[in-house]
Amino acid sequence: MRKGILTIAAVGLLTTGGLTACGDDSGDKGAAAKTPKIGVILPDSKSSARWETADRRFLEEAFKAAGVQYDIQNAQNDKTAFQTIADQMITGGVTALMIVNLDSGTGKAVLDKAKSQGVATIDYDRLTLGGSAQYYVSFDNETVGKLQGEGLSKCLTEKNVKNPVVAYLNGSPTDNNATLFKAGYDSVLKPKFDSKEYVKGPEDAVPAWDNAQAATIFEQQLTTANGKIDGVLAANDGLGNAAISILKKNKLNGKVPVTGQDASTEGLQNILAGDQCMTVYKAVREEAKAASDLAIALAKGEKKDTGQTVKDGDRDVPSVLLTPKAIYKESVKDVIADGYVTKEEVCTAAYVKFCAEAGIS
Ligand code: BGC
Repeated sequence: MRKGILTIAAVGLLTTGGLTACGDDSGDKGAAAKTPKIGVILPDSKSSARWETADRRFLEEAFKAAGVQYDIQNAQNDKTAFQTIADQMITGGVTALMIVNLDSGTGKAVLDKAKSQGVATIDYDRLTLGGSAQYYVSFDNETVGKLQGEGLSKCLTEKNVKNPVVAYLNGSPTDNNATLFKAGYDSVLKPKFDSKEYVKGPEDAVPAWDNAQAATIFEQQLTTANGKIDGVLAANDGLGNAAISILKKNKLNGKVPVTGQDASTEGLQNILAGDQCMTVYKAVREEAKAASDLAIALAKGEKKDTGQTVKDGDRDVPSVLLTPKAIYKESVKDVIADGYVTKEEVCTAAYVKFCAEAGIS
């Protein structure tokens, strides 16, 4: 199974045409002489476990393997801190800055400043709208949403609910990824609402992907719907877990399928216990490696052809978009085999039995 996931990730890279060096066509020999030093600003540590447990780990792994200096910091969802960290990194001599923006406005200010100081820039995971990053490295985020919509639909079919009421817990309104995820799941679910096969229930966006707020929002949704919610499209595992906590309070967990994203330990445990329908696994190791390769090339004054661009207004941003994968109970073991989480983390006391049932040995 390990091979399966790796192959998919490789295909993701292949479809982008891989990363081929084009050499320095800028004539900027100064850049070519620089010793790479890469600064990374992560967004927070609460909206998803991934930033600290996966991104930091895999970015460090990639930078260490390449033998480059690096500085990875976390803005903890504070936009002022985000800008201060960026200023310190620029003053500290980074040659490339990789950011996961907290919103496009502050992201753009940071990217523009870096650019004006001759620092190379990369949008990591989230595209900064109207920004100036030289590259964008992420997953195909509309496909992430499509997998969530298809997953929810599959689980609702298995539950055999007639005309299910589906509630939405969307991601942060300031995160362009949340817009893309929604476009993806709407492409699957909207035709079902239109044909009256499904009923559109309450829909809310969760500010800053705040998991605690998501629980309050979902509780309100359940009240508004008089307890009649048959499926929850939650945009990531944190929001999904928030919904599950309220479903548990109402003894509805396991009856109402909930989606997720990020293959977090908690999300995988919820899937094994039957409380969560599915998650979307994004091989962050591949994302970190692609971004690291680009940052190092930029520091050396090289330009790489990613073979793909993403439109941001009139701008075509050279991009690497990797391929996400849907994970259900039977494929939780693939995420473990890929080294994203360990069996020990997932199969703790309460989950030993479920792990055995799901073939995790
Ligand atoms: C990322 C998701 C993450 C969410 C909350 C999104 O931009 O793509 O993986 O769950 O932010 O941090």
